[in-house]
Amino acid sequence: MADLIPAHGGTLINRICTPTQRQAFLEQADRLPALYLSEREISDLEMIAIGGFSPLTGFLGAKDYRSVIEDMHLDNGLAWSIPITLSVSQEVAATLLLDSTIRLNNPQGEFWGVLELREKFTYDKEKEALAVYRTTDLAHPGVQVLYDQGEVYLGGDIWLLERRPHPLFPQYQIDPPQSRQLFQAKGWQTIVGFQTRNPIHRAHEYIQKCALEIVDGLFLHPLVGATKSDDIPADVRMRCYEIVIEKYFPSDRVILAINPAAMRYAGPREAIFHALVRKNYGCTHFIVGRDHAGVGNYYGTYDAQKIFQEFRPEELGITPLMFEHAFYCTRTQSMATTKTSPSKPEERIHLSGTKVREMLKRGECPPPEFSRPEVAAELVRAMREG
Ligand code: ADX
Repeated sequence: MADLIPAHGGTLINRICTPTQRQAFLEQADRLPALYLSEREISDLEMIAIGGFSPLTGFLGAKDYRSVIEDMHLDNGLAWSIPITLSVSQEVAATLLLDSTIRLNNPQGEFWGVLELREKFTYDKEKEALAVYRTTDLAHPGVQVLYDQGEVYLGGDIWLLERRPHPLFPQYQIDPPQSRQLFQAKGWQTIVGFQTRNPIHRAHEYIQKCALEIVDGLFLHPLVGATKSDDIPADVRMRCYEIVIEKYFPSDRVILAINPAAMRYAGPREAIFHALVRKNYGCTHFIVGRDHAGVGNYYGTYDAQKIFQEFRPEELGITPLMFEHAFYCTRTQSMATTKTSPSKPEERIHLSGTKVREMLKRGECPPPEFSRPEVAAELVRAMREG
């Protein structure tokens, strides 16, 4: 049996209540102080519980938080680039007792998990924005969330009450213990993870297939947690993936699964984070293309690749596969990058996400050089039906 890559920090975390624990929390439920978490905080809670954010066992305390902001490492020295935090207002913080158990509700008010509150601490939003997002511009979707949230962070371990099937994609809910089992069952020793928040286009397919030429399997892992409002909804993106895998991929070499995390749009820092999360799912390699996890013009095209040089390879323990900007080359009549194509700029077909959204709004199909026709048709149909 193939040896699996260890989780980040050595142990795959499981913070899902056993039935006995759950029963005990349910019996206290009405007596516990309650917080309502945002969609993003709920997905962070779930990601911690299922082991996707190993070695984290809860929301960061002050020492880890400062170390992550200033140095991209946890206080114990492990690489970690994104602060996973739970915020409340000063007023709410004042009502919560340290060392107490807090009930965590989802935005609809359902009891979802608990926090064992160990720390309350204030933080500097501007400092966090500049460190994580490299900007304080409120037009940046990650900065906006940060500036809208409460002034106090709550640190402590969490428990998820129960792991419920995903309401939209139960068949694709493959958590780290299961993805690891699947990889072993398939005998895959090398697995490349692919992060995406957009409908699959031909440049995605090209870099996925370049990677598939050198590893045993592809773990297609679209993010289905909170995204910004103009991103294409997750159900449409998942349908596009089903269509493309069926027709254009050797389906026994691909596993499609959802990544329940929320998007932060933190570009370079999020690329490191995305890689570590996929390592927890059992991937040995991770694709980082152009402007990974970027938004607008806040990051240079290859900043999310350059940041990997700030870590020793063994600190991350997952190998990034970097790809240049891919396009359709009309001269060679194939997908390519400037590394493989002698084309002049006017011989390269590529479209920005904004351009594609504009075309779809007008009911126009993106061209076959950009998008597989079946995907283009699905996107136009989804747009028309709103
Ligand atoms: S992201 O926010 O999840 O990074 P997206 O879904 O567009 O956005 O990208 C998924 C992955 O494909 C990222 O690694 C990104 O860098 C890469 N990528 C997207 N488009 C291209 C392209 N034209 N050429 C090379 N890499 C690309």
